[in-house]
Amino acid sequence: MKTLIDVLAEDGACKALSSILLTLTQATQHLSARIALGALGGILGSAQKQNIQGETQQTLDVVANDLIKAALQGLPAVAALVSEEEAGVVPCYANGSYVVAFDPLDGSSNIDVNGQIGTIFTVYNRLPEFDHHSEQQFLRPGSQQVCAGYVLYGPSTQLVLCCGGPTRSFTLLNKHSKDAAKTPTPLDAQSDYVLVDEVLTLPIKTSEFAINMAHQAGWDEGVKRYIGDVLRGRGEPFNMRWSGAMVGDVHRILLRGGIFLYPLNHNSHRKAKLRLLYEAAPMAMLIEGAGGLAYSQSIPILEIAPASLHQRLDVILGSISEVERYLSYIMPS
Ligand code: AHG
Ligand code: MN
Ligand code: MN
Ligand code: MN
Repeated sequence: MKTLIDVLAEDGACKALSSILLTLTQATQHLSARIALGALGGILGSAQKQNIQGETQQTLDVVANDLIKAALQGLPAVAALVSEEEAGVVPCYANGSYVVAFDPLDGSSNIDVNGQIGTIFTVYNRLPEFDHHSEQQFLRPGSQQVCAGYVLYGPSTQLVLCCGGPTRSFTLLNKHSKDAAKTPTPLDAQSDYVLVDEVLTLPIKTSEFAINMAHQAGWDEGVKRYIGDVLRGRGEPFNMRWSGAMVGDVHRILLRGGIFLYPLNHNSHRKAKLRLLYEAAPMAMLIEGAGGLAYSQSIPILEIAPASLHQRLDVILGSISEVERYLSYIMPS
């Protein structure tokens, strides 16, 4: 049985990066145990506060954010961090060699109904030419990510990670459930994420699409035509799934193929929903690491540098043949 520590050692990951990944994933182990307690873990309901996104924060958004932030702020390797739940850059160590961005709790609308939820994270090298807490540390294309990953708190808790090589998955060997209700204890050094898939590879073809049909009226014409043709059928099964949490949909697609679409919605004041820095870019690295494609309009997501920390964009990702078919609808030759 190989744990995350073994895999990082085999990869030759430096101590600084390993400290970040082990500390972050250990925080998710604690979250996993508290989430498994549901109402008994004091993590349900609204926090009655608005975040920078204009969303009402859920209790677990705040609990997850504060736990992960506190864990990372204690690491000399971390120069700065950005979170969905923080307005601006959070300065850490001036000599830190990495910066970290994260979505502490993805799928917040699923929390109170015991649906799929997760944590998404990404790590970049700190740029020496800017202050350690400058926004410029984060306004870079996703192609510069050192590693990206998510933890899915599902029936089992799974970590999916790409550090430039293959996309790999780990399952949490949970031994903390008994003390989960306690306040965070010093996290033990032994990681319990056990390697399950050495190399995740997306099937090239797919028979499943994931989209929230409720926003159909606001889509561009090309998107409407693509979905219209999908729904008219192609003489072969083509099913729909929508988990309400990006981590849930991306995980299913990594394991059995599919296409995930969150197109622009011109009827919404925001036009786009998903955030580039800590949702789309890390997921694009994981999907491309598994042989899939990830686009926004006609541009590969990993080529796009955020203009602002919480910039939103439309996201299409998944099995190569289906993403290319979709692109032919929005980029008529
Ligand atoms: P978050 O909970 O971190 O704010 O992100 C939710 C996102 C993403 O996880 C999911 O794919 C999408 O919102 C679902 O949007 P709809 O509720 O519009 O379907
Ligand atoms: Mn999210
Ligand atoms: Mn979130
Ligand atoms: Mn949110």
